[in-house]
Amino acid sequence: MGSLNGKVAIITGAAKGIGEATAKLFAKEGAKVVVSDVDEENGKKVVEGIKKAGGEVIFVKADTSSPDDNKNLVKKTVKEFGALHIAVNNAGIGGPLAKTADYPIDGWKQVIDINLSGVFYGTKFQIPEIIKAGGGSIVNIASILGQVGTANSPAYVAAKHGVVGFTKTAAIEYAEEGVRVNSVGPGYIKTPLLSALDDETLEYIKGLHPMKRLGESNEVAELILWLASDKSSFVTGNYYAVDGGYLAR
Ligand SMILES: NC(=O)c1ccc[n+]([C@@H]2O[C@H](COP(=O)([O-])OP(=O)(O)OC[C@H]3O[C@@H](n4cnc5c(N)ncnc54)[C@H](O)[C@@H]3O)[C@@H](O)[C@H]2O)c1
Repeated sequence: MGSLNGKVAIITGAAKGIGEATAKLFAKEGAKVVVSDVDEENGKKVVEGIKKAGGEVIFVKADTSSPDDNKNLVKKTVKEFGALHIAVNNAGIGGPLAKTADYPIDGWKQVIDINLSGVFYGTKFQIPEIIKAGGGSIVNIASILGQVGTANSPAYVAAKHGVVGFTKTAAIEYAEEGVRVNSVGPGYIKTPLLSALDDETLEYIKGLHPMKRLGESNEVAELILWLASDKSSFVTGNYYAVDGGYLAR
């Protein structure tokens, strides 16, 4: 029996990377999965893969920076599967790379809209349905950069710190109603998000992790699974790193 049997889960940004790995793992653990993304082509490929493996899954196109899309995503989920128990607000972008004085204003707005406001919109519309279902778990994907800074990514660092703080507030507000809310902070993970970085930079980044390697998406998905499942029933309002020791320095 899977640890998510009978649960319905939304995963945003599930067409690739960490979201894709999470959607596949959740389906394997018995959840009915809603794969959501702006990337319809790759999202549908993920759905086909899950179906072939015997999972129950649908694709819903949604841009997390749009409140209406988030509302519609929850509505379609409940219409298709009858309830909502779990949400992983994972969609995110890296954004421009530049020092603060040179950072483009439109890039700042885009990163904050997707990486921070997107998590707020998602959580806002997911909570009432999770309460109706008798409780559940929301996992917001932050980053090691939700705990420490790095040069050339002011918007990303600000957004991810925002996700960590926002998660604590939502957790306090809804703890008594059975909604657990936690954030996950991956170190650098081998996904298309890192495609903007050259080999030399990637080698340098590996060296920042005591394990001297990048993480794999499924290593992050395993932590998300634990936080989403009832195995973490007394866990809420916290931040969990999966970072090869990055933050231990
Ligand atoms: N890869 C890393 O090193 C790393 C490290 C720490 C945190 N993270 C975080 O993990 C999450 C997933 O990242 P990933 O590495 O799997 O990236 P990825 O680029 O492989 O996948 C991100 C997915 O999000 C989707 N997406 C982008 N903008 C969207 C929007 N507005 N609405 C809906 N979907 C959208 C993309 O289409 C893509 O499928 C992100 O929040 C990212 O910030 C990643």
